[in-house]
Amino acid sequence: MTKHIILDTDPGIDDSLAILLALASPEISLDGLSVVHGNSSTALGTVNALSVLELAKASHIPVYKGCEIPLVQPSLLAPETHGEQGIGYAKLPAPQTSPQVQHGSDFLIEEIMSKPGEVTLVCIGPLTNVAMAIRKEPRIVENVKEVFIMGGAIRHGGNTTPLAEFNTFVDPHAAHIVFHSGMPITLTPLDVTYQCIFLPDDLNRLLKIDSSITKFIADATRFYMEFHDEYQKIDGCVINDPLTLALTFMPELCDYQELYVDVDLSGGVSMGKTFADFYRMTDKPANMKVALGVRPRDFMELFLERMEKLAKLPS
Ligand code: BDR
Ligand code: CA
Repeated sequence: MTKHIILDTDPGIDDSLAILLALASPEISLDGLSVVHGNSSTALGTVNALSVLELAKASHIPVYKGCEIPLVQPSLLAPETHGEQGIGYAKLPAPQTSPQVQHGSDFLIEEIMSKPGEVTLVCIGPLTNVAMAIRKEPRIVENVKEVFIMGGAIRHGGNTTPLAEFNTFVDPHAAHIVFHSGMPITLTPLDVTYQCIFLPDDLNRLLKIDSSITKFIADATRFYMEFHDEYQKIDGCVINDPLTLALTFMPELCDYQELYVDVDLSGGVSMGKTFADFYRMTDKPANMKVALGVRPRDFMELFLERMEKLAKLPS
């Protein structure tokens, strides 16, 4: 049975790749996108979401603008990682379609409550929209089918501070609300995403197909690769968000542990850091399933095959 997916996203280079992967995957039905601040402003991320959907001939999928700033912290965007436009060096035509009028967090509530037990939420940006939705309508916690979250760094170092990962650092208070909500969460932290590197050779394989999709992927990831080379000495780029999306229909790509995970809100050097109680020192029950092992090349093969399929569709 195809899964009903809602993507909560901050497009974003790897977010855009996750949108394309969702569109190329027959196991799931992408029912809508809610956009949140993060890699780009919410306004720019919304334009990017609409443009990427149009690029893949999927402009029928509705896009909802969500929260523009974190719950408590000042805003933090990431132009150095994703470019001033949020999609690296890629340039997409201005979208012909517009976002829906409903707010992103209200869309999440409406979707989940209208299909109890059926909606899978995939969160690949800061968790502000989801936390807002929980505060407004707490019954979504029992009515969502499952929640996949790209965020955190458990045993891995941070990518935004030495300790914290971007999505949890940008809105740690929202992450705290969602982590402790009781929702059935699967977390994809940097521990697994940093093993999933899209290599220059992977890009060369895609570029054997001449299409607007492969051109977009090339122009977007060229910027992302330059960032990874300059700041992290990685040859290629880490595609966090598509891995998280892939786990919704191919969970066997990762190995998991049920753990109690929390996020630091104390405001010091570890603000936004996620940590797990591996030895049950707090006696608190597990609040999520955490991906801690991954088969990176199996994932990359899936990603490449799906991008090739999308690129070969007649224009
Ligand atoms: C996360 O932050 C963003 O840079 C990516 O889109 C991903 O969601 C990785 O820390
Ligand atoms: Ca993201």
